[in-house]
Amino acid sequence: MILKPDDVLERLRALRSRQPVRYWAFYSSQLGGIVTDPALMVIVFDDHMVHRGHGVFDTAALVEGKIYDLESHLDRFVRSARTSKLEIPAREAMRDIIVRSTAASGQRDGSIRYWATSGPGSLGLTPAKGAEPGFFVMVFAGLSYPETWYTQGLRVMTTTYPIKPPLYAVTKSTNYLPNVLMQMEAQERGLDNGVFVDEAGHVGESSNMNVAFVTEDGTLKHPTFDHILSGCTSLRLLELATALTTRKLLRDVRVCEIPVAEARAAREMMLFGSSVKVAPVVEWDGKPIGDGTPGPVARALRELLEQDMRTARDRLIDVPY
Ligand SMILES: Cc1ncc(COP(=O)(O)O)c(C=O)c1O
Repeated sequence: MILKPDDVLERLRALRSRQPVRYWAFYSSQLGGIVTDPALMVIVFDDHMVHRGHGVFDTAALVEGKIYDLESHLDRFVRSARTSKLEIPAREAMRDIIVRSTAASGQRDGSIRYWATSGPGSLGLTPAKGAEPGFFVMVFAGLSYPETWYTQGLRVMTTTYPIKPPLYAVTKSTNYLPNVLMQMEAQERGLDNGVFVDEAGHVGESSNMNVAFVTEDGTLKHPTFDHILSGCTSLRLLELATALTTRKLLRDVRVCEIPVAEARAAREMMLFGSSVKVAPVVEWDGKPIGDGTPGPVARALRELLEQDMRTARDRLIDVPY
């Protein structure tokens, strides 16, 4: 069956109607512009991000018509691109394309994900001769999680999959196979997510979220960022959390290695991330965390973050709709 160009477009549209998506705007350096029809949000197959995973990405939140904390997401994107030997547009150009794509979406709440790729031109490993590096931006509805995650808390398991070696864990590349398998494994067992533990027995992170604890003595502890992704949400929450020491909800805030045994004895365990924000974990490997119900620190941190996402003027970019 050989298809004509018009047949291809029709079939791409049919695919999207069989499986509707909430993608609102897509910029592609390959197209040289923005499209809003999801059928046209495509990338050429021989781009090395597709068949070799030679690409990096990041995701920022769109909140009430403003982009939250884009600079810290761009910092990480630039670092990931450098480690992956990927060429990216100048930072100002990327910011401009991201803001314009968001404006083109017409939406005021959602997620903005962007990718850098090594480009098309061969099915080899290293970038093809003369390959044009790619830059793509997708403005979409974002990942959504059940409300029960916040009201009742999550149940997690230690994954059986090995944690990424530090170099790959700190780089936000499109190689998410361990993260995908970890979440699938948890779901297959009727749980919500998994947790990576490193070879030394220290807590790592979850699938697309960081993990933190409130220990018995009231210290908020977060794993060090040298072997896990440096979460923009975590970095901000670690700053915001100091307000909870004044309110006597916390005694201290620390970034340190966290042995699993200490973590299991925590009063509270929680997940941090741009999509999940702050969600309490109430059970880990079949055992309750604290009294097995969502705790006050997770609730307070979520409120602080929600407020920051709406009011931190120096972290918000107005979208010129
Ligand atoms: C593996 C991993 N860890 C942690 C995070 C949390 O990062 P952020 O707070 O920047 O969303 C993410 C999400 O990007 C992730 O993919």
